[in-house]
Amino acid sequence: MKFSRITGTGGYLPKRILTNHDLEEMVDTTDEWIQERTGIKQRHIAAEGETTADLGAKAARLAMQMAGKNAEDIDLIIVATTTPAKIFPSTACLVQQQLGIHGCPAFDVQAVCTGFVYALATANSFIRSGMAKTALVIGAETLSRIVDWTDRTTCVLFADGAGAVILEESDEPGILSTHLHADGRYEELLHVPNARPSDTSDAQKIEAHICMKGNEVFKMAVNTLGRIADETLAANNFAKEDIDWLVPHQANTRIITATARKLKLPMDKVVVTVDTHGNTSAASVPLALDTAVRDGRIKKDDSVILEAFGGGFTWGSALLKF
Ligand code: ACO
Repeated sequence: MKFSRITGTGGYLPKRILTNHDLEEMVDTTDEWIQERTGIKQRHIAAEGETTADLGAKAARLAMQMAGKNAEDIDLIIVATTTPAKIFPSTACLVQQQLGIHGCPAFDVQAVCTGFVYALATANSFIRSGMAKTALVIGAETLSRIVDWTDRTTCVLFADGAGAVILEESDEPGILSTHLHADGRYEELLHVPNARPSDTSDAQKIEAHICMKGNEVFKMAVNTLGRIADETLAANNFAKEDIDWLVPHQANTRIITATARKLKLPMDKVVVTVDTHGNTSAASVPLALDTAVRDGRIKKDDSVILEAFGGGFTWGSALLKF
């Protein structure tokens, strides 16, 4: 059985920065409230006309550069996104077009904030079963397009960006295990009620915005992420002290801190980018990973846990040797 290993990472954030002070001018909120409840100070917003595929392709180029890969080396593209550039073709096909890659399978994965972990697990299975050798795995979002900018309970949270990794066939792991879960019973706690392409009523013509019961999502996220960390360690006979880095989904520093506490990890072993990136959903884990790889914190052979929780509900984790 072959293994897969991450050999390159990349990230891209749109140029425009929206600060908490900017939001104070838009809705009834304060910088103090946002920082205290979420840890967010600023977020990036895509330019007019800039699509999820554009962001994804930019992150992908940097990951390919780090791994020393050209277009012809890539034999699988998976994009995790909740905000596809079009209903179809998939954003993966649009990224493929932008990168000048032709012929390899390319498809999207939709698991909201857990999307990148789902995509990574899928690419890992392709490589381990011999169906691919070099996969481009991307998480990319333009969530600003589906945020109600008059709703202070959600508009302060979400943002745009993209992260990518190159996952390659390897003689040694790499990805040690992946753990994916979903429970559709919680649909209405976190969803976009009015974008329904399969609906024949007028509902689909209403503007589509994220609706969230934040408090209930918060409690579920903290409990679920604690459980999945234990599941991941147990599956690998790992003790808490064997973990070098936690790279969590970046929704809220309070959720991140609670997960770190359950893992008995000091916060200097946790990658936090939510303060400057906001919640970029499927892009948040690969963006955080890329940040810590490029600034030299995560080094070769470090043991890293990736974990995420999001709409669905979906949740998942991956344990890897970088
Ligand atoms: N500014 C000022 N006040 C606000 C704001 C705001 N931006 N938003 C809400 N409030 C008010 C509320 O109206 C409420 O006022 P009230 O007490 O008078 O009714 C008060 O602040 C408290 O509101 P809560 O919702 O209880 O605040 P909470 O501490 O739960 O924080 C938050 C809200 C930040 C949304 C939190 O619940 C959270 O982070 N939830 C989880 C988000 C998450 O992890 N999502 C999953 C991934 S996202 C995805 O899958 C796409």
